[in-house]
Amino acid sequence: MRTMNYRGRWVLLTGASSGLGLEMAKVLARDYGANLVLVARREERLRKLAEELTAAHGIETHVVAADLMKEEDVSRVVEESIGGRDLYAAILNAGVTHFGHHHELSWADFQNMLSLNVSSVVQLTTLLLPYLEERREDGGIMIISSLAGLTPVAYQTAYSATKAFLVNYGCGLHHEMHHRGVSVTTFAPGGIITEMTAGERFNSLRAWLMPADKCAEEAIESFSRRRYLYVPGAMMRWGTSLTKFVPQRFLVGRVAAQYRRSLSKHG
Ligand SMILES: NC(=O)c1ccc[n+]([C@@H]2O[C@H](COP(=O)([O-])OP(=O)(O)OC[C@H]3O[C@@H](n4cnc5c(N)ncnc54)[C@H](OP(=O)(O)O)[C@@H]3O)[C@@H](O)[C@H]2O)c1
Repeated sequence: MRTMNYRGRWVLLTGASSGLGLEMAKVLARDYGANLVLVARREERLRKLAEELTAAHGIETHVVAADLMKEEDVSRVVEESIGGRDLYAAILNAGVTHFGHHHELSWADFQNMLSLNVSSVVQLTTLLLPYLEERREDGGIMIISSLAGLTPVAYQTAYSATKAFLVNYGCGLHHEMHHRGVSVTTFAPGGIITEMTAGERFNSLRAWLMPADKCAEEAIESFSRRRYLYVPGAMMRWGTSLTKFVPQRFLVGRVAAQYRRSLSKHG
């Protein structure tokens, strides 16, 4: 399949109101001239971003305020995205974490995390893949997972498990779909400086975090190149490839000890 060409085409982007999603919107508009369907709950933020991107880069935008923890909102996002416009690609980025002891995660918050991080991604993908295939434009979907999906991360245990689901889901679909003219890329960043990592509990881990704008550039580049599974940042990529040679229990234990220190200092 050819490299993706977003210019003048519509890209759906969830979680566009902050962090990585907001930065990916900027990259897509500025560097690739894509038209954007921007999705999140905080509508004011989306409208402001849409105005700025249209003024600066002459692209078209459509804002959809939606709570992707709700099935009916997910269906509406698809209806609004493909109604009246031809969608070329989708980036499924919205997600939430719980950083802390597992027993502090309430059942309701776990259900919400599962709905957003897992169910909404499956629902969106299931609705969009047949559409993208039928359009025969060589479009694609990018799923935002995490390094925490490649190796278990204690104190983000449930989150890490949702992201592992996304790795297996995205990588499996890559092989199912690339013969059918739709690429599926799974993007797995390490820590990023965003609202997700803004809390005090992350204070001792800040040195590991990547700027969101740099991460966004690598995300869009990897999507353009229709990568299978991509970890941004040369050091992180190198470190991740070395983890194959270290017993997983040891590695997970080292990271857990570091997280425990950060939590006990700032928890
Ligand atoms: N930050 C990290 O260290 C890191 C590392 C690896 C992977 N990731 C992944 O990167 C993705 C983006 O996270 P981020 O770091 O950019 O965090 P963020 O700044 O908190 O952004 C999360 C985005 O998801 C949206 N969102 C949250 N709940 C939603 C809901 N119920 N319905 C619709 N949208 C919702 C938020 O918008 P509203 O609140 O306006 O709805 C926001 O736009 C996530 O999938 C995350 O797991 C992050």
